[in-house]
Amino acid sequence: MARASEQLPGDRSILAAEGVSKRFGALRVLEQVDFAVAAGEAVGIVGPNGAGKTTLLNVLAGAYAASAGTVRFRGANVTSSGAAERCRLGLARSHQVPRPFGGMTVFENTLVAASAGGGLRGATACERALDSLELCGMLRLANRRAESLGLLDRKRLELARALATGPTVLLLDEIGGGLTDAEADELVGAILGLRERGIALVWIEHLVHVLVRVVTRLVCMDAGRIIADGAPEAVMADAAVIDAYLGQGVA
Ligand SMILES: Nc1ncnc2c1ncn2[C@@H]1O[C@H](COP(=O)(O)OP(=O)(O)OP(=O)(O)O)[C@@H](O)[C@H]1O
Ligand SMILES: [Mg+2]
Repeated sequence: MARASEQLPGDRSILAAEGVSKRFGALRVLEQVDFAVAAGEAVGIVGPNGAGKTTLLNVLAGAYAASAGTVRFRGANVTSSGAAERCRLGLARSHQVPRPFGGMTVFENTLVAASAGGGLRGATACERALDSLELCGMLRLANRRAESLGLLDRKRLELARALATGPTVLLLDEIGGGLTDAEADELVGAILGLRERGIALVWIEHLVHVLVRVVTRLVCMDAGRIIADGAPEAVMADAAVIDAYLGQGVA
């Protein structure tokens, strides 16, 4: 049976939430969440709509301050650091709704990420931007305006921008939703390429059959808590997980 809140020993985890809670006014969205990721590990997060998955990612990335608890990254307590600071330390994220800079090309968008997020300048920043675009299959679109892209390419650009910051941990929020099977295959190929580079991944995705092609561990959230954490087959067979998904379908 999959165990909830399984913790890695401190020396193995590169990113960890310890007892993290998040409230929006009276609404309690995360309740005492313990979650840790090892260097180079790929973890999937699933759970019904409104479970708190994006909120957890926002607290890990520093977009939201935790109401209680601690976030550690690469051995440092980053609980009070903002997203930009965490990004410069090597923690990058993609957004559930892609957020390219309009009025800029695909290349310029990625270059901004390499400069502002990755701290690179000049030719080195250009090389990082081009390398990220290539890995995400976006090089041929480098000169296109970001706002002219379709959904798949916007998601790929979101991935390339996160990658251009030079992360050691990448947090991905539903980059597979709305894609055809062939498009999902391409995305999986790109993400496996990131794993090969040793980047740790935390990937929120409703498409579990896509997710399990990349991750070796699955976490299921429900109502602001982690209800299962372990090998993907064990988590998907867990009674509490099936119960949380009743009526929603896990596909
Ligand atoms: N900034 C916010 N202000 C107020 N409530 C919020 C805010 N962000 C999220 N919530 C609420 O927190 C709860 C969890 O939302 P969250 O977006 O984390 O869920 P999720 O698991 O990512 O869902 P989905 O699968 O639909 O993306 C929801 O009830 C949501 O309305
Ligand atoms: Mg979400």
